[in-house]
Amino acid sequence: MPLSARKREVLHQMGIPVWVPRQTPPAPQRLDADGAGVPTAPREERAAAVTIAEVPVAQLGWADLGERVTSCTACSELARRRTQTVFGVGDPKANWLFIGEAPGSEEDRGGEPFVGRAGRLLDNMLAALGLRRGEDVYIANILKCRPPGNRDPLPAEAAACRSFLDRQIDLIEPRVIVALGRVAAQSLLGSDAPLGRLRERQHDFRGVPLVVTYHPAYLLRSPADKARAWSDLLLARARALGD
Ligand code: URA
Repeated sequence: MPLSARKREVLHQMGIPVWVPRQTPPAPQRLDADGAGVPTAPREERAAAVTIAEVPVAQLGWADLGERVTSCTACSELARRRTQTVFGVGDPKANWLFIGEAPGSEEDRGGEPFVGRAGRLLDNMLAALGLRRGEDVYIANILKCRPPGNRDPLPAEAAACRSFLDRQIDLIEPRVIVALGRVAAQSLLGSDAPLGRLRERQHDFRGVPLVVTYHPAYLLRSPADKARAWSDLLLARARALGD
């Protein structure tokens, strides 16, 4: 019997791989001499089963998407060195979606984005907007795995991970996306423009307004730019409120 989405989610949380039975049409029947149906041979009745690995990412629900990310080995170096993947966290129907670069060492250990010092500053930025992590807010990264030594994601790594993020965005349907820092902004916008040229205006990401601001880790090093970051967040808030 197929598992409910809830049961799949619970199994996923427990780290148990989930198998998805393929929807099979009713087994064809042959007619006996009286025209009554009799069951076909067992071979024809056998239900085929496929793993979720065969379903396109763009068609996955949350639980199966999480499973696919957890088992991803597309970037062999990252997969080999990670403690765990960092999927993303928050309200699955949030109006606000914040996207950073990639997990750091604390996120790699904890399994949640932005839990280190930069994450605490991000939480303060959310609080200044009257928001809280997990309530109308979703936080994700360009990469689901930590790059060794916290190096920038390679273009090939960002490309390999992109369908996961795209699917998260499609499922969330946010009102606004905030790109945190140059790497996230350039990757999402397919641009090599410097951060200064990408800030202070609204972009379009597949129909969703996107605003670029400084990465919280940069703001820890350059607190003088917090005022500029605040003006970026006000621009994003106008979009989130539908202004
Ligand atoms: N920096 C990021 O870009 N993402 C995290 O999750 C943590 C630090």
